[in-house]
This record gives sequence, structure tokens and C-alpha cells, in this order.
Amino acid sequence: MAFPITRLRRLRRTEELRNLVRETRLTPDSFVYPMFVCPGEGVRKEIRSMPGVFNFSVDEAVKEAREVHSLGVPSVILFGLPDKKDEVATGAWAENGIVQQAARAMKREVPGLILMGDVCLCEYMSHGHCGVVKAAPQSLGAAVVTPPIATTEYEIVNDATLELLATTSVSLTRAGIDIIAPSDMMDGRVAAIRKALDESGFLNTPILSYAAKFASGFYGPFREAADSAPQFGDRRSYQMDGANLREAMREIEADIEEGADMIMVKPAMPYLDVIAAARARFDLPLGAYQVSGEYAMIEAAARNGWIERDRVMLESLVSIRRAGASIILTYYAKDAARLLG
Ligand code: PBG
Repeated sequence: MAFPITRLRRLRRTEELRNLVRETRLTPDSFVYPMFVCPGEGVRKEIRSMPGVFNFSVDEAVKEAREVHSLGVPSVILFGLPDKKDEVATGAWAENGIVQQAARAMKREVPGLILMGDVCLCEYMSHGHCGVVKAAPQSLGAAVVTPPIATTEYEIVNDATLELLATTSVSLTRAGIDIIAPSDMMDGRVAAIRKALDESGFLNTPILSYAAKFASGFYGPFREAADSAPQFGDRRSYQMDGANLREAMREIEADIEEGADMIMVKPAMPYLDVIAAARARFDLPLGAYQVSGEYAMIEAAARNGWIERDRVMLESLVSIRRAGASIILTYYAKDAARLLG
């Protein structure tokens, strides 16, 4: 027997009913706001490909952090634009590095805000890769090749990179970063970072691992924001192939075994299936990063009058939540919090 036509539509008749039966709720307390900190004073420079997102000097970053917190967003993740780049990413682990400065100031001025530190080397390396670059394979261990072109001419050296990541993590924690978030995709980084944190007495500092981070075209605008595009080659020898779901599960499993406290999938919208699979399989808090390209696409279409910005913003965030992420890193954190508040 056929159901009456209204069977499923009864509960959709009014906003009150729809609200009552809504399965997924967005709240600002699951948002993390990414911020880019640069040298100088009074700097608030809009990123061309990410309208509404800025490079902030430390003083301006503190003001922004205060606003983020007052909107009910509990956390920011910090990225740095150093004044100098080199081949050992000094700016990432220097005691007075730009993120270290920002972390100290934010901890002092906005103490309730959870500070996440993105741990990666690409922003601090002259070549823009996430790890140490050496000539490969015959001359491994030799001087850095500048500038190698073919992928066969160089290698991103895993274990030398781990040492720098571990040093960076300790330095950031010392400066006041609360959660260490490695995004480099080297093998064994979580174990190396955990060990270094423990040995430095930071037993209570959690690690949020970018466990399944895909080599994605959606990072384009970020590389402008953080000035971190690789000068040669690409990131496919360390970030994951977008076609691989089972490998993503192995990556996450490895990070959990190494001591990750929370895991993350990145990007979000093109990888909702990965988020859902991770949710079903692992019981750690699960994050997802709605990346720069996802943000830029919505902004560009909205600016052309092709979509309704706020509606699409919230729909994209609900989809990430529905897929199973409990923590959402998004450039929309402030705007969405305003709409939801
Ligand atoms: C650093 C890093 C990147 C992003 C976060 N951390 C860039 C990359 O891997 O190239 C991208 C974030 C975004 O696109 O919003 N490795």
C-alpha cells in the first residue's frame, strides 16, 4: 500500500517542526579560526584570493583573536610568515619566531582562547617544501640542490625533517601554544613530536594530527596567504593521493598508534566520504579543515551573485558536521558564529 503523499513532508511544514527534528546542529564551539601572522606593526593586509581573510601583525592578530573569542569561537590555529626563509626553516623553531611572538601575546591578552600551532616547515623554507630537501638519490646527504627541477633530482628527507618538526613543536609549546597540529605529512612525525614534548616536560600538550591530508588543488589561495608555494615540484611525494580512501585509514591508524590525541581530514568538502569513514572507524575526536580553496570558491560565486553566500556557507559547514567531524577548521568561523549566535 502506498503511503499518503504527506508522509515524509509532515515534519517539514514549519521552521519550528524542522528545528525540532533536525539531526545535525552547528554551534560555534566546534570552530577553529585559522590566522596568518606576519612581521610589522599595524598590519592588516587582505589576501587577494581570500577576501575577508588577512595577514596580521602580532598587535592586530591579538585584536582579532579577542574578537574571535568574544564571538564564542574557542580556538584559533596560527600560521606564520617569517621575515626570512632558509633551508632549515629557522623561522619555524626560533625562540622569537613570528608564531612564537603571536602565541605569547595572545596567551597574555586572550587567556581563554585555545591556541593551536600548525607545525609545518613550508612557510619557513626558501624552497617552500614541507621538509628538508636534499639531492637524490645518489648524493643523499649532500648539499641542498638549488634549484632542482625534476622530481628525480631531489628528495624530501623524512627523518631530518622529523627533528625540525619536533624542535618546532617544543618551541611553540614553550611560547604558549596549547595544541600541536602537525600538517607536514612526513612518516613518524607524531611519534617524534610526542617524544620531544614528553622529554621537555610537556606531557599535557595534545597533538591534533592532520592525519589524512591530501595533495590538493584546493590549497591554492592558502599558498598566497602564507607565501608557501613550492618553488619546484609539488607535494605529491608526501601528501596523499586524492583517490585513496583505504590509505587514508592507514595514515590515521598510524598516527593514532604514534600517540595522536585527535585526528583530522583535509580538505573537507571533496573528502566527506573520508570524514565519514574515519568517524565510523576511529573513536578519537575528529577534525576537518575547510580549506582556502573551498572558502575562495564560495566567496567568488557569491561575489558574482551566483549563490547566496550565507546559506551556502552554513550548508557547507553542516555537511562537514553531518559527515562526522566534531571540530571544524574554517575561515568562516567568525561569520558563521555571528549567524548562529
Ligand atoms: C602547511 C599547510 C597548508 C595548509 C595548511 N597547512 C598548505 C599546504 O599543504 O600546501 C592549507 C590550508 C588551506 O588551504 O586553507 N603545509
